[in-house]
Amino acid sequence: MPLRVLLSEAQIQARIRELGERITRDYPEGPLHLVCILKGACIFLADLARAIQRDVFIEFMGISSYGARKSSSGEVKVTKDLDTSLEDAHVLVVEDIVDSGVTLHYLTHLLEQRRPRSVRIVALLDKPDRRVRPIDVAYVGFQIPDEFVVGYGLDYAEKYRNLRDVCVLAE
Ligand code: IMP
Ligand code: MG
Repeated sequence: MPLRVLLSEAQIQARIRELGERITRDYPEGPLHLVCILKGACIFLADLARAIQRDVFIEFMGISSYGARKSSSGEVKVTKDLDTSLEDAHVLVVEDIVDSGVTLHYLTHLLEQRRPRSVRIVALLDKPDRRVRPIDVAYVGFQIPDEFVVGYGLDYAEKYRNLRDVCVLAE
C-alpha cells in the first residue's frame, strides 16, 4: 500500500525536544513515572524519555481495544499491567495517538484508582475530529487530520512500526 510522509523524522525529533523541555519545566524535582502504552508508543517513549531532564521511571502497560481494524470498538482490555505501585507518584502516560479517546478514558480511570499524586497524558499525535470521549491531553505533539497513519511506532496489522517518519497509509 502506498505511503505518504505526513511528519518527517526531523519534524518529529524537533517537536519531541520541545515537549521534553516543557515537561522538564512543568514537573518538580523528583521522579516522574512514564507509563508507556504498548506497543505503539514504545519508540516515542524512547526519544521522549531522553528529552526530559528529570529522573524518570519507565513502566509499560498493554492495552487492547477490540473491533474494526482501523478504529476502537469501545471495549478495552488490559493485556499487561504495571509491575510497580503508582501511589503518590507523578504519572505521565505516554501514548502514540489519541483517536476516539476511548482507550485513554478507560486508562485514566484505572490509574486514578491507584492513588497517584498526579496523572497527565502526553500523546505524539491527536486526531481531535474523531473524539467520542472527552480527554484532557496535557501535551500533544501534533494535531493531525482524520487519516490513518503508520510509522514511528504506529502500525497497520503490526507492520510499519519501524518507519522513521509518520506516514499516511492510502488505500
Ligand atoms: P482510541 O481509543 O480510539 O483513542 O484509540 C487509540 C488507539 O488506536 C491508539 O493507541 C492506536 O493504537 C490506535 N490508532 C488510532 N488511530 C490510529 C492510526 O491512525 N494509526 C494507527 N493506530 C491508530
Ligand atoms: Mg496504542
